[in-house]
Amino acid sequence: MIAIACDHAAVRLKNEITAYLAKLGFACRDFGCDGKASVDYPDYAAAVCQAVQSGECEKGILICGTGIGMSMAANKFKGIRCAHCADSLSASLTRLHNDANVLAIGARVIGDELAFEIVRTFLQTPFSGDERHVRRINKISAIEEAQK
Ligand code: RB5
Repeated sequence: MIAIACDHAAVRLKNEITAYLAKLGFACRDFGCDGKASVDYPDYAAAVCQAVQSGECEKGILICGTGIGMSMAANKFKGIRCAHCADSLSASLTRLHNDANVLAIGARVIGDELAFEIVRTFLQTPFSGDERHVRRINKISAIEEAQK
């Protein structure tokens, strides 16, 4: 199950991505938002990140105007490694190297076709599991723990 959410700047693209993912065979849990009324992106980042933290959803997709606010909020959640991507090479490498579990994209920055390619690449690329990448991810977790 893939968790997906957006703010008011990205409702159309969120709906397009959800339909695209359904065609690829991915089931999505849509956490909103669904209208044009202004909302606060951290609330939607929280819903998706909590679904990933609990294991209800395997990965998350967050979309706002730039993707930046969503990624900043998401990376405050323990165990969440959110990658803000505007190209498919980054989407591939963040899975292979960082084992990113949440993707953030900017609806005001990239077109639909590129967004589809980024999302597909992110969801279909496995983590490499290489020792050096595991070691580095563990160091990210250690930073998180030390902040408490
Ligand atoms: C909303 O206007 C906008 O600030 C938001 O979608 C996002 O781009 C924040 O990072």
